[in-house]
Amino acid sequence: MTLPDGLRLRRAHPQDLDDVMWLEHTSFPTDAWSASQMSGELYSPHGYYVVVETTEGGAPTIVGYAGLSSLAGNPVADVQTIAVAAEQRGKGIGRVLFTELLDEARRRGVQEVFLEVRADNPVAQTMYTAFGFERIAVRPRYYQPDGVDAWVMRASLTPAPSGPAPSGPGPIGQETLDDRS
Ligand SMILES: CC(C)(COP(=O)(O)OP(=O)(O)OC[C@H]1O[C@@H](n2cnc3c(N)ncnc32)[C@H](O)[C@@H]1OP(=O)(O)O)[C@@H](O)C(=O)NCCC(=O)NCCS
Repeated sequence: MTLPDGLRLRRAHPQDLDDVMWLEHTSFPTDAWSASQMSGELYSPHGYYVVVETTEGGAPTIVGYAGLSSLAGNPVADVQTIAVAAEQRGKGIGRVLFTELLDEARRRGVQEVFLEVRADNPVAQTMYTAFGFERIAVRPRYYQPDGVDAWVMRASLTPAPSGPAPSGPGPIGQETLDDRS
């Protein structure tokens, strides 16, 4: 599961807020999170956010992001969001981001992952189903102002081969710490 040339995956940090918000608004035109909501997510000690950025052609540009939330010691986690820039979709970036979230969930010892997806979003539903998620409930008119239903989807995780790691940064998290030094 590799990214196309010229892209790299890394842990998100709060300085990514503006780039992430730009993608958030273009990806979710009617129900984007506010900057303060997103900022809270990027700073949350329970969150694990990753981005894919360009590595060629001048200043890096974020072309995708995704986030997981799980409380320490809780065997349940939630996928909070995922988005890829429209012109970069269909190249495997979403799969790489989503794989990293599930890998982090395994590192945290999570056994069950939940997410919500719009009923009118077959592309995301197809991706989640391919990763083993199943629809377990529908929340009527959950997404406002559009009045679109939410599907609640769930997957069981198989443990990481070496067993759950203590909570803390995984390989991507370590890279971010290195970036900050
Ligand atoms: C959902 C999203 C993140 C997928 O990102 P992506 O980089 O285009 O996805 P990938 O190219 O990695 O494809 C991953 C899987 O998604 C599914 N998929 C991707 N494009 C698809 C399409 N046009 N039709 C159906 N399924 C599609 C497939 O299952 C694919 O796996 P495969 O290549 O093995 O068949 C992207 O479409 C997006 O940002 N959409 C707008 C924001 C959004 O809806 N986010 C989800 C909120 S719940």
